[in-house]
Amino acid sequence: MPDDANHPPLKVHVNLGSRSYDVLVGSNLLDRTGAETQAVLSGRNHAVLLTDSNVGPLYADRVVASLSAAGIRTDIVTVQAGEASKSMHVAQQVCSAMAAARLDRKGMLVALGGGVIGDLGGFCASIYQRGIPFVQIPTSVLAQVDSSVGGKTGVNLPEAKNMVGCFHQPSIVLADTDTLQSLPKREWNEGFAEIIKHAGIRDAAMFEEIEEVAQGVGDLPALIQRNVAIKARVVEADETETLGIRALLNFGHTLGHAIEAAAGYGGMLHGEAISLGLRAATWLSLQKSGLAAADGARLLRCLAAFELPLKLPADFDANALLDIAAKDKKFEQGAIRFVLLRALGDAFVSCDITAEDMRAAILHLHEPV
Ligand SMILES: NC(=O)c1ccc[n+]([C@@H]2O[C@H](COP(=O)([O-])OP(=O)(O)OC[C@H]3O[C@@H](n4cnc5c(N)ncnc54)[C@H](O)[C@@H]3O)[C@@H](O)[C@H]2O)c1
Ligand SMILES: [Zn+2]
Repeated sequence: MPDDANHPPLKVHVNLGSRSYDVLVGSNLLDRTGAETQAVLSGRNHAVLLTDSNVGPLYADRVVASLSAAGIRTDIVTVQAGEASKSMHVAQQVCSAMAAARLDRKGMLVALGGGVIGDLGGFCASIYQRGIPFVQIPTSVLAQVDSSVGGKTGVNLPEAKNMVGCFHQPSIVLADTDTLQSLPKREWNEGFAEIIKHAGIRDAAMFEEIEEVAQGVGDLPALIQRNVAIKARVVEADETETLGIRALLNFGHTLGHAIEAAAGYGGMLHGEAISLGLRAATWLSLQKSGLAAADGARLLRCLAAFELPLKLPADFDANALLDIAAKDKKFEQGAIRFVLLRALGDAFVSCDITAEDMRAAILHLHEPV
């Protein structure tokens, strides 16, 4: 077993005044859950550990043992793995389970799993007894680089995704990169769509690190930390998404969300739909904002290196996609707010993209790369 003392975790501080917290990234962090939790939530000795049916059997015991060694008694609540658990119904079940465990306001929730568990757990923590602290232990690439940082929590309604929720920042985030080894290949790959998105909007130099990880020679904890730092800086500048800065994180997402919805939830993984959205947004950036062709090609090569789709299935209808996108985002005076790149690492929100531009971008997704 590696000696933790010689490999201290990497750290990103998220500076949000009284809601500030650290994100720790590294190996063997699960075994430090108790000590790290105690350090930020001292005096609390009862936790509910929320996890799912895939992650719980793999890692819950280690987390519980670590919490127990720090004097924190833990009740485990396991929900079915998958997006369907991000519902009001399951949120109520989780809150009921917390009540049955007699968790009080001096308790805490520990969310161990992917983005579904983080969003559901954070939401339950925000509403249970008017709000209790929570600890994020993200176990998917997507959750480590994206959903566990920033405090967006919530569940889906039958009408649409993420319709109910609130901002509730975690007390600490423990991103144990060893847990990523057990991720199924498809879920591993999809997380890299968000990493490539981050590199596109804020960090051109990161493309090199991504290419190394794709070849199996990169430094994964360093790459995860770099992504957390990007997300953290954006969240610090615009915690509740009121200033438009956080909107840069929507690069590839305007059409990506529409493609995801058109595929039917479960038809395409989020990161797969985002990969297509990134290709469309990159193509529009070549046309509209001066992105160099070689840089656009490099971004697409990175997506391909993680086996992410770049071409729409032939039966995808451009008009239907456009309808979904238009319903999602309002066109103001014929144009939509759309994130484009001037160069790799240099994103901005354009107000010039019309429905016609979007249709052309969607049609482009039928073309070979
Ligand atoms: N809050 C935010 O800011 C934010 C941002 C982006 C996405 N999200 C949300 O995140 C969710 C998607 O997250 P996700 O992709 O992590 O989905 P997920 O939680 O469903 O995890 C994907 C699959 O991988 C499994 N899994 C997770 N970690 C594992 C591991 N270490 N080993 C083996 N299996 C593992 C899960 O059980 C699940 O089957 C969506 O609901 C999305 O809306 C939230
Ligand atoms: Zn996303």
